Amino acid sequence: MANKTKTVWFCRSCGNESPKWMGRCPACGEWNTMVEETVATGTSSRTAAAETFSASVRKPLPLKAIDSSVESRVSLRNAELDRILGGGLVEGSLVLIGGEPGIGKSTLSLQIPLACPHLKTLYVTGEESAKQVKLRAARIGGDDSNCLIFSETLMENILREARDIKPDLMVVDSVQTMFSQNVESSPGSVTQIRETAALLLRFAKETGIPVILIGHITKEGSIAGPKILEHIVDVVLQFEGDNRGSYRLLRSIKNRFGSTSELAVFEMTGSGLREVSNPSEMLIPMHEEGLSGVAVAAMLDGTRPFLIEVQALVSSAVYGTPQRSAMGFDVRRLNMLLAVLEKRAGFRLSAKDVFLNMAGGLRVSDPACDLATVCAVLSSAFDVAVPADVCFAGEVGLSGEIRPVPQTERRIAEAGRLGFRRIYVSSFASQDLPATGIQVVKVSDIPALVRSLFGNSAT
Ligand code: TYD
Ligand code: MG
Repeated sequence: MANKTKTVWFCRSCGNESPKWMGRCPACGEWNTMVEETVATGTSSRTAAAETFSASVRKPLPLKAIDSSVESRVSLRNAELDRILGGGLVEGSLVLIGGEPGIGKSTLSLQIPLACPHLKTLYVTGEESAKQVKLRAARIGGDDSNCLIFSETLMENILREARDIKPDLMVVDSVQTMFSQNVESSPGSVTQIRETAALLLRFAKETGIPVILIGHITKEGSIAGPKILEHIVDVVLQFEGDNRGSYRLLRSIKNRFGSTSELAVFEMTGSGLREVSNPSEMLIPMHEEGLSGVAVAAMLDGTRPFLIEVQALVSSAVYGTPQRSAMGFDVRRLNMLLAVLEKRAGFRLSAKDVFLNMAGGLRVSDPACDLATVCAVLSSAFDVAVPADVCFAGEVGLSGEIRPVPQTERRIAEAGRLGFRRIYVSSFASQDLPATGIQVVKVSDIPALVRSLFGNSAT
């Protein structure tokens, strides 16, 4: 049958296909995400995406007959990366690293082969010339004796070389620049991205070679076609952090071989990314002691405890409606905490502007930060500083009660390790909390907290 092409519309956000343009995607509800693309129809248009699964179909097996020996993992000689992957890179896995331009995806993906000279790596770059990669490698340092650089964007050529070379690891930078002859649309389009990922997935599964795929995230905060890629790949890691500050967070969003609650911290230095094994170092105070409006929360991100500075500014409202703004914290939760303070503890904050900021450009969702948030707000409102060696771990309930948070012991241990002298927790927390070198103060509700922390100055 002759090859024909037709025009269809794809949603950039979820990959939904539609025969005509629509202002709003009916599948994911996003506005203004439809893009026009040409696709080939007819028999020869069988793409890798369609074949990936059919090629790997074999006979059904009884569950108990399936080999369940642990998947073999390759260490990347980077403790943070290994941990976030669940103990190393699994053979034949496809890992997507997403992030905004300039955040350090190419740097990280080049650092891996340079740290692992025992792995023969094929580094495919569609964005930079081989010379640019060489310059970057010189900057990072390390052993480049076993790393092959291939500046190419045509998937068919890349896979042919890769099958020839049989590397131990393959890096593809980036999915948006690659294209396959199977589909007609231009690189970066939804169909090309889907096809590239499917080809790489099939390659990884057939050969057992792990593939690291880089993907840019669009301004709206999604990997161009995020949902399309997320269900194809095995692991999705997302790079975060503002690109002015030097700290970078790598978060695991999906992991078929490990936990998704992991977080790795890196610092961008003049010679590449440095692993930050003690994330609380981000907390090193940047100000004199005795400033009001600052409180430290012992939070947990994934499975790691770390301490973060919560900053609040309370000032008289300039306009009729007070402003509430929060950086790195859910503003609805801030409003809830302010309402609790107003109703249950009698603090009149309704005529005040409240600004909240999490230091270090971090975004937190752990409810254990509530207590520190409340203290930072009150400290700013009273203009009384919270002592620098005090930290907090507790959730605030709607009736002003302070509720216990999971893994309080680990938070206390981390705070003690970092030299804090006192930690406030819920009085409903478990009885036998370790208190090595740190005083654990239990409080049941906000009035009790205020009495204990601010004493008479709270007027
Ligand atoms: P890059 O890895 O190119 O970002 P991405 O691939 O995500 O677009 O990193 C870009 C930034 O990192 C760039 O602004 C320069 C900076 N950088 C350093 O600060 N130190 C280094 O050693 C390297 C290699 C880059
Ligand atoms: Mg790059």
